Amino acid sequence: MSKHTVTLPQDFILGAASSAWQTEGWSGKKDGQDSYMDLWYKNDRHVWHDGYGPAGATDLFNRYEEDVALMKQAGLTHYRTSINWSRFFTDYENGVIDEEYATYYDRFIDAIRAAGVEPMICLEHYELPAYLFETYGGWSSKKVVELFVLYAEKVFARYHHKVTRWFTFNEPIVVQTRVYLDALRWPYEQNTHTWMQWNHHKNLATAKVVQLFRAKGYQGSVGAILNPEVTYPRSSAAHDVQAAERYDLFYNRVFLDPMVKGEYPAELIRLLDHHGVKWEYTADELAIIRENTVDELGINLYYPHRVKAPSRAWNPETPFHPAWYYEPFELPGRRMNKSRGWEIYPRIIYDMAMRIKDEYRNIPWFIAESGMGIENEGQFRNSDGVIEDDYRIAFIGEHLFEALRAREAGANCLGYMLWAFTDNVSPMNAFKNRYGLVEIDLQHQRARRLKKSATWYRGVSESRSLTL
Ligand code: BG6
Repeated sequence: MSKHTVTLPQDFILGAASSAWQTEGWSGKKDGQDSYMDLWYKNDRHVWHDGYGPAGATDLFNRYEEDVALMKQAGLTHYRTSINWSRFFTDYENGVIDEEYATYYDRFIDAIRAAGVEPMICLEHYELPAYLFETYGGWSSKKVVELFVLYAEKVFARYHHKVTRWFTFNEPIVVQTRVYLDALRWPYEQNTHTWMQWNHHKNLATAKVVQLFRAKGYQGSVGAILNPEVTYPRSSAAHDVQAAERYDLFYNRVFLDPMVKGEYPAELIRLLDHHGVKWEYTADELAIIRENTVDELGINLYYPHRVKAPSRAWNPETPFHPAWYYEPFELPGRRMNKSRGWEIYPRIIYDMAMRIKDEYRNIPWFIAESGMGIENEGQFRNSDGVIEDDYRIAFIGEHLFEALRAREAGANCLGYMLWAFTDNVSPMNAFKNRYGLVEIDLQHQRARRLKKSATWYRGVSESRSLTL
C-alpha cells in the first residue's frame, strides 16, 4: 500500500491521559483516605497482578518530576489526569484540605505547566472516598452531591489560575454499572434502582459544578469525560436495530443527553417507569440540569459495541437489567486486540464525531482516551532495552487519522489523547495489560523508559504530520 501523509492543525491536541489512583501510589496516604477503588482492591486480592496494584502504582507521588520531563520527550501538548478526591481532604464533610497532598498537586501542576504542557483535570476518576461510600451509600445520596460541589469549590479556588479545562467525572457510568447492574465488583449487589440513582446524581452534580464555576466567573470550561460506545446492530432488521437503540439509551444517552441537551430522553424515562425502576428526582433538579449543560466533552473510545436482539426472554421476577433488550454480537472476521479482548475498529472515531456534529450541537470535544493494552510487552524489547511497540504506533496512526478525517468533514474534534502516558494500574488487572508510551519496569524500581511509540508520537507532534 502506498504511504500518504496528513497534516495536523496547529491547535490540534496531541496528548496522553492517566488518573490519580492509577499512578500516584499510597505514599503519604493517611488512614481514612481510601477511595472506592482502594476498597475494591483491598477486598478483591485477585485483581492484583503478581502482587502489584494501586499501593505502589507507578509511584508518581514521589516521581512526578521525572514523568513531567518524559512528557516533553514524548511531545505531549496536553496531559489529562485527575485529582484524588479521597486524598484531597482529611475531612470530607467540612472540606478540610490535606495540605501535604495538595502541596504535591500544586507542584505537579506547576511542573507540567513549566514544561509547556497544558494540564486538563478531572475531579473524579473513580476516586469516590470510601468513607462516603460506606457512610452514605456513595452516589445514592444527595448529601454526596453536596459534598462533591464543596470539593469542586475548594479545588477551583486553589487552581483556577493554573488550570482552565475541568471535567467533573471520567466515565461516570462505569462504577455503578460494574457494581449495581452487573454485580461484578464488591459489594456484588444487583440493584437497578441504585444504578439509576447514581446516574442521576452524577448528572446533577455535573450541572451544579458547571453552575458554580460560572457563578464564580472563572476563566475556562467545565465538561465531562464520557464513554459512549459506538453501537452497531448486527443487521438492519428492526429487532436488531431496536437492540442497538436500547443499548444506546441506557448506556450512552443516559449521560450524553442531560449533559449536552439538558434533559433525559423521554423514552428512557418511559422504559424505567415501565420496569418499575425507582429513582428520586425533583423538578428543581431537572431544571438545574437543563440550565447548566457542559462546555465541552472528552470521549473515551476504545472499541465498537455490536449487538443483536436478545435470543431469550428474561425472567420478569428478577430485577430489571437493560440487557433484557440486547445481546452482544461478535462480527465474524473482526480484528482483535487479543490481550484485552477488544475489537479494533478505528472507524468508531469518525462515526462518533459525526453523531456529535449532527445530534449534539457539534459541541467541542476531543478523544480523551484511545489505546491498546498489551500483555508481556517485555518480549518486544530490542537490544538497546527499548520496547518496540509497532502495534501501538499502527493503532494510534489509524485512530488519529479517523479523527483528522472527521475534522475535515466538519466535526468539532479538538484532539487526540492516548491512554495512557505511562503504564499504570488497570481497574480489573493491575499491571497485566500495558498501555503506556512510557514503560514502568516494575522489576527494576519502576524505572521509566520511553517506548518506541513515544519517540514516534513526538515526531508527529513536532512535525504536525502523520504518515500512514
Ligand atoms: C477506561 C478508564 O475505561 O479504560 C481507565 O478510564 C482504564 O481508567 C482504561 O484504565 C483501560 O481499561 P483497562 O480496564 O484495560 O485498564
